[in-house]
Amino acid sequence: MSKLFIIGLGPGDAKYLTEEARHCLQSCTHIVGYHLYIELVDASIRPKNIVHFELGEEVERARHALELAAQGHQVALVSSGDPGIYAMATVVFQLLDQEQNDLWQSIDIEVVCGISAFQLASSLCGALVAHDFCLISLSDLLTPWPTIEKRVKHATDGDFVIAFYNPLSKQRDWQLKQSLEIIKAQRSGNTPVVIGKQLGRPQQRLIKTSLQDIELDMVDMLSIVMIGNSQTRQVGQHLYTPRGYINHSGAQ
Ligand SMILES: C[S@@+](CC[C@H](N)C(=O)[O-])C[C@H]1O[C@@H](n2cnc3c(N)ncnc32)[C@H](O)[C@@H]1O
Repeated sequence: MSKLFIIGLGPGDAKYLTEEARHCLQSCTHIVGYHLYIELVDASIRPKNIVHFELGEEVERARHALELAAQGHQVALVSSGDPGIYAMATVVFQLLDQEQNDLWQSIDIEVVCGISAFQLASSLCGALVAHDFCLISLSDLLTPWPTIEKRVKHATDGDFVIAFYNPLSKQRDWQLKQSLEIIKAQRSGNTPVVIGKQLGRPQQRLIKTSLQDIELDMVDMLSIVMIGNSQTRQVGQHLYTPRGYINHSGAQ
């Protein structure tokens, strides 16, 4: 039967690839993805037929994977992190939804979750995302800026821990600054901020700073920016956001 796995590779190193993702990759004849992500897959488990696409060619990538699967191949369409978080799974479902293609409708599709960048960032610094949180992509290439801005405002109003994906790029250098201004208007300058760069890869860096000290040149497009809420605290080397398990007098 035609099979399409949409697989999350996790943030980088093979140790973050789930057993399920490994198993599915090994069962495939074709792998489709952005070339940097395909390189994250160890050659020993990489399907032998490789189809590379460039950044920005997400629709072409998804369409090609569907076409290969419709021809009867076992196909792995890969994303970094989790395939459902700013990644390929939704592109596939949108194509299926919008194009009435009977061959595609007969494909058995399975989404295989992966560790997302925010999860690794949170655990590397302690338990930053321990209470309610919002993930917001600052890329206005696919979402209009007024929508993003409204979400940043509401996440700030709700005192959510916030993780910014796609915080900036060479072409988009003002959205992070503007978002930080919105948050600074309501949260203390001491609020912990963590910048996770190339997490799970040899170039990994974790920068701990604060709302008042963050500099934009600490951030690039391979970074995630995490902002604590009003309760986020430091204990020793770790940051955590309390969740009320223990009352303020310390009794459980
Ligand atoms: C198109 S989104 C893909 C997100 C991915 N599906 C996930 O769940 O992590 C790309 C953005 O995710 C973040 N990102 C992905 N992998 C990362 C990593 N290893 N370290 C830091 N940030 C990462 C960056 O903000 C980057 O601009």
